[in-house]
Amino acid sequence: MPTFLINGVSTTVPEGTTILEAAGQIGIEIPHYCYHPKLSIAGNCRMCLVEVEKFPKLQISCNTVVTEGMVVRTDTEKVKKAVTGVLELMLLHHPIDCPICDQAGECGLQNYYMKFGLHKSRYALEDKVHKKKVQDIGGQIVLDAERCILCSRCVRFLREVTGTCEMEFFSRGDHSEISIFPGRPLRNDYTGNLADICPVGALTNKDFRFKCRVWFLKSADSICPGCSNGCNIHADFKGDILYRFRPRRNDAVNQTWLCDFGRLEYKKANEDRLLTPVIREGGQSVAADWDAALFATSLKFREAVEAGGPESVAVIASPQSSNEELFLVRKLAKEVLRTPNYGFSSRTPGRPASDDFLIKADKNPNSKGAMLFGFTEEGFDRTVRAISERKIRALLVFGNVLADFAEGEIGPLLSNVPFIAHVGTNNGALSRAAHAVLPSASFAERGGTFTNFAGRVQRFRPGFPPRGKARNDIGIVAGMANLLGAGWTLAGEASVFQALSASEAPFSGMSYESLGDPGQVAGGPK
Ligand code: SF4
Ligand code: SF4
Ligand code: FES
Repeated sequence: MPTFLINGVSTTVPEGTTILEAAGQIGIEIPHYCYHPKLSIAGNCRMCLVEVEKFPKLQISCNTVVTEGMVVRTDTEKVKKAVTGVLELMLLHHPIDCPICDQAGECGLQNYYMKFGLHKSRYALEDKVHKKKVQDIGGQIVLDAERCILCSRCVRFLREVTGTCEMEFFSRGDHSEISIFPGRPLRNDYTGNLADICPVGALTNKDFRFKCRVWFLKSADSICPGCSNGCNIHADFKGDILYRFRPRRNDAVNQTWLCDFGRLEYKKANEDRLLTPVIREGGQSVAADWDAALFATSLKFREAVEAGGPESVAVIASPQSSNEELFLVRKLAKEVLRTPNYGFSSRTPGRPASDDFLIKADKNPNSKGAMLFGFTEEGFDRTVRAISERKIRALLVFGNVLADFAEGEIGPLLSNVPFIAHVGTNNGALSRAAHAVLPSASFAERGGTFTNFAGRVQRFRPGFPPRGKARNDIGIVAGMANLLGAGWTLAGEASVFQALSASEAPFSGMSYESLGDPGQVAGGPK
């Protein structure tokens, strides 16, 4: 563990740490472009120059390892002059089209120019070399070659992470240009990451381009709901509209990457939402307030149990629900309704994509959590059988689990149930068939935890309040349980998590604090 001095501050770092990484750890910013923590070192942009005592020339800090007794300065006139010179060189042929560039506001060139440059250009605008703008190069990416600073992050990502090698540099000197090979567009499932890692506006995301200036966006630390991998994300929103997902670093889960399918999952929280409770009776649909909707639903379940016993009601849980919600749903099924008919299904129609990197075939964020709370696919099948035998008088369904099958074998079964209550976020076959529609908050509007395929319990946080009259599932389930006489006093996901960690062995000893950012493995060391 070498100890060294940087800007007069003594610090000790693990063996093998570079000056750039060590500086970052103690809050000293060294500007850099080509360095990326998850890619090989290229050392080609020269932005990260620092002065190291006894070295005759400035050194690139991204490729200089700290040694015992080293003395480093990042703030001398020599360093400042060199960094300004590098910036001037990078901007020599840059079009400076910030007002029409979608990267403005989160651009490495803009930011470093304001912090470390502020030089006057000595190069005439008309002498700049022009390159191709607005090229659709496949996947989620648009390329503007003029804005590229030749840092090679994209080339290394496609070599080292996806192994697909679709981009390269062509030509020489001022005419060097990043591009794809003719007629060979990006063909991998992780193209969106290129826009994240490109430090400038050369690679931008087709889906997000020009939708919203980034300084209007706020962000919530969340988890991608697109599959059971549980990739960590920043969910960027304005008002109650989600605009994009960006990866959030978690080396135990997704490093700093997201897949292209998951990246577009944000749309489900925006589109075709259920916004108000609805009661349907005698072919009439009536918008209801929450008290009326929960009262009517609870009454139907009470009547069904009184008439046919607990086995005449059923609960189908959703692997899109949080651990906190699933804990309460199981309590409702087992302890309040006392029914043996409860289960969940993680099945997805068709042949869901998967690979040996991030993408999982299970397109739900919390199937593992559902299993840990005792929901099973057998329970789901048993419930479906009971429905087909017309044994179920009242059915409570969470999420769109049945709707996925509505066009096939399960859809017609719904007509066998006299009363269906649907707790969900989006319109679909199930909400159209239900007698009570109880709109729930999307993942962006509520907080909680998901357990990913490997058992890692991770927090997701709300960005904004539920849309319309939608409610958190915790409130819906507790409201229904209390109308059925449960007398629960749980309020909010934090108190539910506390209760579940006290009673469920795999979550024992966990708290929101102990989960922190990386999460913890259920049943693993705490
Ligand atoms: S396109 Fe972006 S990531 Fe690729 S070399 Fe140019 S600046 Fe770097
Ligand atoms: S791999 Fe799964 S969790 Fe990760 S971004 Fe893709 S869909 Fe989302
Ligand atoms: S970040 Fe060090 S040379 Fe580019």
